[in-house]
Amino acid sequence: MNIPVRRQSLYEDLGGEEGVRELVKIFYDIIETDPEAEALRLLHLRGHGVAHSRIEQFNFLSGFLGGPQYYVQKYGHARLREMHEHIPIGPSDRDLWLACMVKAIAQVGLDRSVADKLMRHLTRAAETCRNLD
Ligand code: HEM
Repeated sequence: MNIPVRRQSLYEDLGGEEGVRELVKIFYDIIETDPEAEALRLLHLRGHGVAHSRIEQFNFLSGFLGGPQYYVQKYGHARLREMHEHIPIGPSDRDLWLACMVKAIAQVGLDRSVADKLMRHLTRAAETCRNLD
């Protein structure tokens, strides 16, 4: 008899809501305080500011990682490209965003395999947001 095995979601791997909240908090703390992230902080000022992104990134990532779909419930979609179309994002911005996420993941102290899987997903997602060559 084949018993289906349910794979644990990344949301669960991160420790559910609490883990996702912590990662998002550390990520934006880095954006706001790390001198290397200055360009990214300034990009956020072209939109609704970092405080707004802290809230909506939690809502988005929660669903993106396999947890509750708060962003979709609120806005009716979770289309990353559309969310960023008013922000000019080139390869160096994409790479900076990912580098900040690597730092945040290191601070959270995720298991290597979870960290690698998360970065694979986020790397693909970040390329979706890039809208400049
Ligand atoms: C590729 C590099 C990226 C850059 C440079 C970037 C930059 C930004 C900026 C400047 C904002 C603020 C927009 C505003 O306030 O109007 C923003 C919002 C946001 N970003 Fe990114 N982002 C990147 C990648 C990502 C990725 C990979 C994700 C998800 C995994 C993501 C999720 C979000 C969300 C959920 C918001 C809030 C959208 C909303 O206001 O509804 N971003 N991003």
